[in-house]
Amino acid sequence: LEPVESIIGRLSATVPDYPQPGVVFRDLTPVFADGPALHSIVHALVDPFEGQFDAVAGIEARGFLLAAAGAYAAGTGVVTVRKKGKLPRRVYAEDYSLEYGTATLELHMDDLRPGMRVLILDDVLATGGTLAASARLFERAGVQVAGFGVVLELTGLRGRANLAGRRIRSLVRE
Ligand code: PRP
Ligand code: HPA
Repeated sequence: LEPVESIIGRLSATVPDYPQPGVVFRDLTPVFADGPALHSIVHALVDPFEGQFDAVAGIEARGFLLAAAGAYAAGTGVVTVRKKGKLPRRVYAEDYSLEYGTATLELHMDDLRPGMRVLILDDVLATGGTLAASARLFERAGVQVAGFGVVLELTGLRGRANLAGRRIRSLVRE
């Protein structure tokens, strides 16, 4: 059985100067497009947290794919953390900065009930600004963050420093 790290290395793509000069963009869409690879990565992200979460959250946009699959595999619901202006009802909003700009993430105030536990999934951990802002959103809603799962951690950007004390599972670190 091929290790998950090897699957990701074999299928992922690297794009220089995207979305702007100087950024080396790691693209995991070919991993998602492969059936056995998607199955392997979703289980590798969710299984270590078994019994520790009541819902799975995905961060727009690629985190949605992982979160829906992970929630379905675990039998929980799925929640969306979205870019500003996309959610129709009352939201919490948190500003954050990322490798190539700044943005705002939003969460519906009542998607989860206080006391619930959420597992937050995304494709890439870079500076950690996105995951840190997501955790703040859930904690404002009274929801406990069980941990984070990402397919790829770009260790040079020191994202873990932004997420001190959090449980983070990354399938590949580079
Ligand atoms: C990427 C990626 C993560 C985030 C990681 O999304 O999918 O969500 O950046 O960066 P950070 O750790 O430095 O915060 P992006 O903001 O490009 O949005 P998209 O998925 O909508 O393209
Ligand atoms: N790939 C995907 N998302 C990202 C990246 C990347 O290389 N850097 C920051 N967010």
